[in-house]
Amino acid sequence: MRYNKKKLKMCVDFNNMMTKWVGPEGFTEKQMLAIGDEVERAYESVQAGRGKGMMGWTELPYNQDDVVKDILDTAYFIRKNFEYFVVLGIGGSALGPTAAFKALKHMHYNELPKRKRAGLPKFYVEDNVDPERMAALLDVIVPEKTVFNIITKSGSTSETMTQYLIIRDMLEKKLGKENVAKHIIATTSKDSGNLIKIAQKEGYKTFYIPDGVGGRFSELSPVGLLPAAAIGIDIKGLLWGAAYADEIYRDPNPRRNAPLMAAVLQYLAMKKGKNISVMMPYADGLKEMADWYCQLWAESLGKNKNLDGTACNKGQTPVKALGVTDQHSQIQLYTEGPNDKVITFIAVENYRKEVAIPEGCEEFPNVNFLCGHTMGELIRAERKATEFAVTKAGKPNHTIVLPELNAFTLGELIMYFELQTAYAGALLGIDTFNQPGVEEGKNATYALLGRPGYEAKKAELGSAPAKISRYIV
Ligand code: PA5
Repeated sequence: MRYNKKKLKMCVDFNNMMTKWVGPEGFTEKQMLAIGDEVERAYESVQAGRGKGMMGWTELPYNQDDVVKDILDTAYFIRKNFEYFVVLGIGGSALGPTAAFKALKHMHYNELPKRKRAGLPKFYVEDNVDPERMAALLDVIVPEKTVFNIITKSGSTSETMTQYLIIRDMLEKKLGKENVAKHIIATTSKDSGNLIKIAQKEGYKTFYIPDGVGGRFSELSPVGLLPAAAIGIDIKGLLWGAAYADEIYRDPNPRRNAPLMAAVLQYLAMKKGKNISVMMPYADGLKEMADWYCQLWAESLGKNKNLDGTACNKGQTPVKALGVTDQHSQIQLYTEGPNDKVITFIAVENYRKEVAIPEGCEEFPNVNFLCGHTMGELIRAERKATEFAVTKAGKPNHTIVLPELNAFTLGELIMYFELQTAYAGALLGIDTFNQPGVEEGKNATYALLGRPGYEAKKAELGSAPAKISRYIV
């Protein structure tokens, strides 16, 4: 597919972040200039880190030609042989595939008859260990027509490995041991963790997650690309969009580099105690993209150590909202509540479908005013009205504008948020790419369930003060 880059270029309107528009809760050129040296250092460190250490994600749009070919061949095979594609994974191994599926496929994709899905497999992402959910999945899939993509970078996450054990057992019982491998694809680290060893022993088709790509930065690696390709998403378009964003956002001046500008303003906001980042797309298709952003922002910035090892408690709590739905739930708080938020709206200029609002109710002018408009006009008007209301209330906000939603613009958006996060982490002076808080919980789970090697953690858990009934109400 061909994309017109210029027509599909996203842009970000930061006006309502500035004092001139939003009043005293906003920011000034002077404040930005005052941190000019910090911004320069952050920019330099992100640029210098490209492709190194845990910044392998910057190169994903450029270095995967062979992998993409393998993925497209595999996706073709899947489409010919299976009717259900199930992702088993959690966190970064599930949020990206879900976000791309929701953004780029029909909103009721799984309910469409096969012909209307162009013969593509139904798609499920299992990212929890709620037993009811697993049982429900097993109720709707047909094992002999299902391929399971087990995704885990570490190859040992309890949730994912639990799902794997259940699925392997089910396949063995239903299809026979000799047929299990035909139904499993592993996406994992090439040389660490348990899944790669299992995959080699069992002969599973395997894709690798590059070492320098952490879970939440992995959507443009096989983690996201294989599931996307299996359901017919243009993965080359995703990568081209990401490459385009990477190419246009290289300027050291934040005024010409939107993700850097966003990071600078969020950094100033955090310094002012604005510790909540609301992500509010005006497109149902981007609701799960907001979930993906929440993980990226929360896990990357929520840290208790600076790079020099000194203690801190940094980060900004991400909150997902959906326009217009949450105008009737959250916006009252955003306009009149505490001055502790930065709101990011995502606007889509052209929706992929349009629905006219028909004539009617002529005798009721207060209803009839809607007639002759379209739903697209209504949602755009509501977004502008909400932007106006929060700005009038003095609450800093900015708007990302996507010309339309397609594989290319989704790729742009993914790269934009990843760069913004990297710049924000550099400004905060923390390690953006680790997640010790997540690891602590993972390790405690291993200990509680008796994984060998976690005896000390089990003892630590056991040494917590005994619960007393007075505090259990
Ligand atoms: O961003 C991260 O690294 C985490 O959120 C992981 O994606 C999540 O914990 C799942 O880890 P894994 O892919 O190793 O199973």
